[in-house]
Amino acid sequence: MSKPAPITAVKGFRDVLPDESVRWQALEAAAARIFGAYGFGDIRLPVLERAELFARSLGETTDVVEKEMYSFPDRDETIVTLRPEATASVVRAYVEAGLAKREPVSRLWYAGPMFRRERPQKGRYRQFQQIGVEMLGRSDAVADAELLIMLSDYLAAVRVPDVQLEVNSLGDQTCRPAYREHLQAFGRAHLDVLCADCHRRIERNPLRLLDCKVPTCRAVMVDAPVMLDHLCDGCRVHFDEVRALLDRESVAYTLNTRMVRGLDYYCRTAFEVIAGGLGAQNAVGGGGRYDGLVAALGGGDVPGVGFALGVDRLAMLIDAIEPPAPLAVVLPLDERATAPAVDITTRLRREGIAVILEPAGRSMKALLRAADRQRATLAIILGEDELRAGRATIRNLVRREDRPQSLALDAPGPELARQVRAESENPT
Ligand code: HAM
Repeated sequence: MSKPAPITAVKGFRDVLPDESVRWQALEAAAARIFGAYGFGDIRLPVLERAELFARSLGETTDVVEKEMYSFPDRDETIVTLRPEATASVVRAYVEAGLAKREPVSRLWYAGPMFRRERPQKGRYRQFQQIGVEMLGRSDAVADAELLIMLSDYLAAVRVPDVQLEVNSLGDQTCRPAYREHLQAFGRAHLDVLCADCHRRIERNPLRLLDCKVPTCRAVMVDAPVMLDHLCDGCRVHFDEVRALLDRESVAYTLNTRMVRGLDYYCRTAFEVIAGGLGAQNAVGGGGRYDGLVAALGGGDVPGVGFALGVDRLAMLIDAIEPPAPLAVVLPLDERATAPAVDITTRLRREGIAVILEPAGRSMKALLRAADRQRATLAIILGEDELRAGRATIRNLVRREDRPQSLALDAPGPELARQVRAESENPT
């Protein structure tokens, strides 16, 4: 019979194996610790939402909504979407749970998969993992600054090398409409050189002209007006205060007057974290303020600010972390040793000791090679002599030393654990 063809993962979807997932765990543990210390609680959100949630919040003309969402009719004809991001979900949850009353200032963080049908390449997947935070109910510049300080603390704690924080202000409902018109006028004056996509952007979403990757468009847009020169007084004061606080707390950043975020809900402070060593997909995080979003999703006039980090990308940048090694490997030399080997392994594990049990029926040499591969400190050997004596031999694999028949097979768990721990720590 011919071998059936293996089934592969769907394009843009991938498995995260233990040598990488240890880094994900480290990134998530640091988030729980650092965001927790800033007062953020962990929110668990569904991955499936009604499609209209994203259409209404991210902007109908964004790439994400126009061409990247996994949307489909559910069996009851509801159009559902695998979430492309989680800010909209957090805001939906805030409104749905009535948090505005219970906890008017809500600080929430999350970690989980997001889905965007982009063209896959290094660092860009169709399912990717984010860690994000949202602070709802605060409109003051201190809130923005606190988030940026927290972000910078986080990046330092997980030791991402060569990162740069870029900030900008995108204005608000008072000043952005006039700026939008300036930009539109600029675009119309340069129609002959701008690409076909930019022609559409001029009418539908002129801010995105600043973000076009086509070299000829970029060359033209160097001279385009920037939002920063058109901020109203309120936005200017807000942005100046954010920057003053960052300076005061020694958070390094650069001003990027051309940064526009890929999602439309932003106003005022916007930022991105750019890292070296990633190639084209060099944004490891982004965020900003979104003061109209809660109201747009049927809640009150509640401001918000937040950011999200790309875990797949951060994991490529942080130092390799060795997956944890077991303290001991139990090696039964023949079948008769199997049952006592299971006993001793179980008792040690119930005492919180990491132990791997190798199957019987191989030579001592093969078993010891297996123990070395596991990077264990000790081997607990059960051969014929050990079974007869009722005591296992402990071999210290680091010092290459045996304690023959030193571990009583019928000893209670705590006694076994004490002896194994002592042996693994014994420096002589
Ligand atoms: P975003 O900039 O779209 O913002 O995504 C944040 C980060 O997710 C990016 O900087 C990147 O590291 C990662 N990311 C995005 N797309 C992909 C992909 N296809 N493959 C791998 N990584 C990716 C947001 O999602 C906003 N919700 C952030 C936010 C929170 N704003 C306010 N609060």
